[in-house]
Amino acid sequence: MRVILYTGKGGVGKSSIASATAVRTAELGRRTLLVSSDLAHNLSDIFDARIGGEATTIADNLTVLEVDTLREIRENWSAAHEYFTDLLAYLGVENAVAEEVALYPGIDDAFLLSRILREIESDRYDVVIVDCSPTAGTLRHLTFSDSACTKMNRLIEIERKILKLVRPFAKKIKGVREIVPNDEVYGVFEELIGKVGRLGEILKDPEISSIRLVLNPDRIAIAETRRAFTYFGLFGFPVDAIVVNKVMPEALADGFLHDWYELQRGFLETIDQSFLDVAKLRVPLLDGEPVGLRPLSEMARGIYGERSPDEVLSPPKPVSLTRVGDEDRLVFSLPNVDKADLDIGRKDSELILTVGNHTRVYSLPDTLASREIGEARFADGFLTLVFPCQTAGGQGAR
Ligand SMILES: Nc1ncnc2c1ncn2[C@@H]1O[C@H](COP(=O)(O)OP(=O)(O)O)[C@@H](O)[C@H]1O
Ligand SMILES: [Mg+2]
Repeated sequence: MRVILYTGKGGVGKSSIASATAVRTAELGRRTLLVSSDLAHNLSDIFDARIGGEATTIADNLTVLEVDTLREIRENWSAAHEYFTDLLAYLGVENAVAEEVALYPGIDDAFLLSRILREIESDRYDVVIVDCSPTAGTLRHLTFSDSACTKMNRLIEIERKILKLVRPFAKKIKGVREIVPNDEVYGVFEELIGKVGRLGEILKDPEISSIRLVLNPDRIAIAETRRAFTYFGLFGFPVDAIVVNKVMPEALADGFLHDWYELQRGFLETIDQSFLDVAKLRVPLLDGEPVGLRPLSEMARGIYGERSPDEVLSPPKPVSLTRVGDEDRLVFSLPNVDKADLDIGRKDSELILTVGNHTRVYSLPDTLASREIGEARFADGFLTLVFPCQTAGGQGAR
């Protein structure tokens, strides 16, 4: 089973490349699902077919789905939906609909993710290809399990304790009765959080998942992709390729586009230097829009050549744990990070890594959880935390 995500700035060609990839894996005999998680779905246009919130088979081995998040909320969350409807009615909002439920921060993300998880776990597919929203949204989705879930879980625990005390009284007061959530609502929350957490684990497993960053050779896309590369590394998501789309072919080197062509050459060099140790795939600017099965298949052959697109294209290296002599070394790949922007904190068994305004809470593996960090080194895009092995007496060596 493989899960491949394509993300990048708007308009760079994520949907086209995800679609081309899906067409190709289907041709190679893999049962393929192409799923769009971008609210601005455009798979229907790319395949020139009607695609919607239902999985639709459009060719041998090829099923396509555009997730309708509001519909997911409506269909799978009736208990909580009722609660929110009551709550909103209490607050004076009549006829509350799913749209309002989506106001609960992050809940739309959670539903989107849980739908994707359902497909991944369905056993119906060998490859699930996800056409993601632009980078910032994708990061928000993917890091949801790290940040919001932890917070939500804690909040729920606290709220539940308080509610146990309050509920007997609240039941007696009209109005308040409606806004006190019952166990069923919490149950739904907990199940959702569990699913999102599970998906997080799948997406961080480099044998199952690969994230591919799509960009065009231009200054803004490069800057955004460098940041994305860093943050995916920070959170431990395996990026196995950078897809450089719309590269001007040599035929355009002379004439009107000469300057533009030369500029792109420079940007291509910058891209090679910015993303070391990860495969870079170049995709030419085509002479028309890649629409329909045959043009997409041709595009994919151009991108992957003889390789199957579901191969792992570069060895994974987000986080590794190795023993060297009498110390354990936990190494994080944090490409393009400036030492001054990196902050490391520790709270019991949790490591708190901050780069700029993104924070990852990393749960240390059991073997390290109760041990002191002897040393933290940062060089060449790698953060190494050294945990001296415990001595026979059980004391951490200092
Ligand atoms: N290599 C390419 N050559 C020519 N046109 C392309 C290429 N890749 C994408 N396009 C076109 O660029 C536009 C944006 O592509 P799309 O895949 O929708 O981007 P995104 O999903 O990133 O917003 C579409 O019109 C698409 O047909
Ligand atoms: Mg798109």
